Amino acid sequence: MAPVANTSDSKNIVVSGGARGIGRALCHYFLQAGHKVFIFDIDEDELKHTTTVHLEQYHKDGKVNSAICDLRDVNDIRSKVKDAAKFLDNRIDVLVNNGGIASPYWKEGVTMEDPATFEQWQAYIDTNLTAPFAMSQACIPFMKSNEADNVNGAHKGDGVGPTIIHIGSFRAHQSDPNQEGYASSKAGQLGLMHSMAISLGHLGIRVNLIAPGRIKVAHESKEGDENGGSFEEQVSEKDVDDHPTNRAGRPKDIADAALYLINAGFVTGQDITVDGGALRKKAS
Ligand SMILES: NC(=O)c1ccc[n+]([C@@H]2O[C@H](COP(=O)([O-])OP(=O)(O)OC[C@H]3O[C@@H](n4cnc5c(N)ncnc54)[C@H](O)[C@@H]3O)[C@@H](O)[C@H]2O)c1
Repeated sequence: MAPVANTSDSKNIVVSGGARGIGRALCHYFLQAGHKVFIFDIDEDELKHTTTVHLEQYHKDGKVNSAICDLRDVNDIRSKVKDAAKFLDNRIDVLVNNGGIASPYWKEGVTMEDPATFEQWQAYIDTNLTAPFAMSQACIPFMKSNEADNVNGAHKGDGVGPTIIHIGSFRAHQSDPNQEGYASSKAGQLGLMHSMAISLGHLGIRVNLIAPGRIKVAHESKEGDENGGSFEEQVSEKDVDDHPTNRAGRPKDIADAALYLINAGFVTGQDITVDGGALRKKAS
């Protein structure tokens, strides 16, 4: 049976890589806004903490659940998306492709001349580019307009429609040395985003990308909760100098952009940079 379109304000949301960092903050702010959330992550310990301790009350209220999923394994993705759909009453309104390898440099300070980077290259492409494709593919059957919408025309819907949000990076546009794997995977996500926006339009699905700048995330973790970590203690003088907004980014800055996109019914195919103006600033 085709899923029933959700026109209520409460959305059913799948977040990949939601155990820590930006993903964890996204889940928290989505739940605070009254949405229902299903989290994927590979880090078992961190995921358990986030689901049952950090988000304890939402978990008890049946508003959030999670599954261990390796984003590099397409069969795992396909099976866990079915579990997510079951929890979300057979209807996914929003998919956030956030999970990935967030460190932009080759490990251990090597350059691309080192043949050992080939394996790391593969991991970047699998996790940061192939996984968002595979996740989207698996979620679409639970997102697209139902038969009645197709007959009536998706344009006649009065809601904002389902949406896919890729979390990219400003590194799609600007590099420091030794970031070929990360930058290529993030630039690839841009092409994936605008191509999907065009292909999925007739199904009523909007597709956009949020490109975070420098976001401080250490406090969004089990360790941060246990040791009382905060955003403020992570902001350096350089962060103040580098940003016209006089600070580094908070995970909430990305959540604010995602909440905007969820309700932005006339916005699709966009790369929204959330970097405190850093890309616009002349290097000093
Ligand atoms: N923090 C920043 O400054 C920044 C800047 C630009 C873009 N981003 C992007 O934002 C997203 C989140 O970054 P973050 O800083 O919160 O990173 P993070 O490392 O704190 O979180 C990433 C999450 O993805 C999960 N993950 C990694 N590989 C996985 C796999 N194979 N299967 C399942 N889960 C997996 C991790 O376990 C982790 O929970 C990433 O896509 C990153 O590239 C972050």
